[in-house]
Amino acid sequence: MLTLGVNIDHVATIRQARKTVEPDPVAAAVLAELGGADGITTHLREDRRHIQDRDVRSLRETVRTHLNLEMAATDEMVAIALEVKPDYVTLVPEKREEVTTEGGLDIAGQRSHLAEVVDRLQGAGIPVSLFIDAEPAQIEASAKTGARFIELHTGRYAEAQTEAQQHKECQVLAQGCAQARDLGLRVNAGHGLTYQNVRPVACLEGMEELNIGHTIVARAVLVGLERAVREMKQAMRGEL
Ligand code: PXP
Repeated sequence: MLTLGVNIDHVATIRQARKTVEPDPVAAAVLAELGGADGITTHLREDRRHIQDRDVRSLRETVRTHLNLEMAATDEMVAIALEVKPDYVTLVPEKREEVTTEGGLDIAGQRSHLAEVVDRLQGAGIPVSLFIDAEPAQIEASAKTGARFIELHTGRYAEAQTEAQQHKECQVLAQGCAQARDLGLRVNAGHGLTYQNVRPVACLEGMEELNIGHTIVARAVLVGLERAVREMKQAMRGEL
């Protein structure tokens, strides 16, 4: 059955804009689970621009589904993962200047380092997923690291400007998914998926989990705004 991992980082982005305590991404995770999320995904970035270390620890104690920790393959992050013990880790490339994760990992170019990180995490009972572009060489190299999962980067699919281009990118994802499954890898996908473009990816044979964040938090802001304003008027009248 296809599952949904809800990425709650953008809730922390709003909090960090004021460096205050609200909105709390841990509360968001609880509500996401109430709404049917099968898992909670969070990215502890090296620059701590949204999620903070204590959020990850609180999420570990609060999340009742599964916790997917996205992180760079650095010693600092591996130490945190070994301490927090998320249900699985997704290794992602990270550049300080990027707005969001821009491309997949170059597995082929750093296979021995990644294999060592995979080994340390999986040796401690934490399955590892590698966030990669759906390219045959990257998928092959991923299998050789021993990682249990890959997450196919859906950014190029999401950015396709025409229906034909989108169809072509969806075929690339389908082929990548099939190749990975043949190599014994389990397959997730994510990045840039929206209410409008999710369905074809959700229909891909063998796909296990979609990790989706921005579009859900964006919609939550809008569908919740009317009630939030009404409640502020109640607070002003002393009715809340
Ligand atoms: N998967 C990975 C590996 C990501 O880095 C991100 C973005 O943090 C997502 C999924 C979710 O992407 P979006 O916020 O565009 O839905």
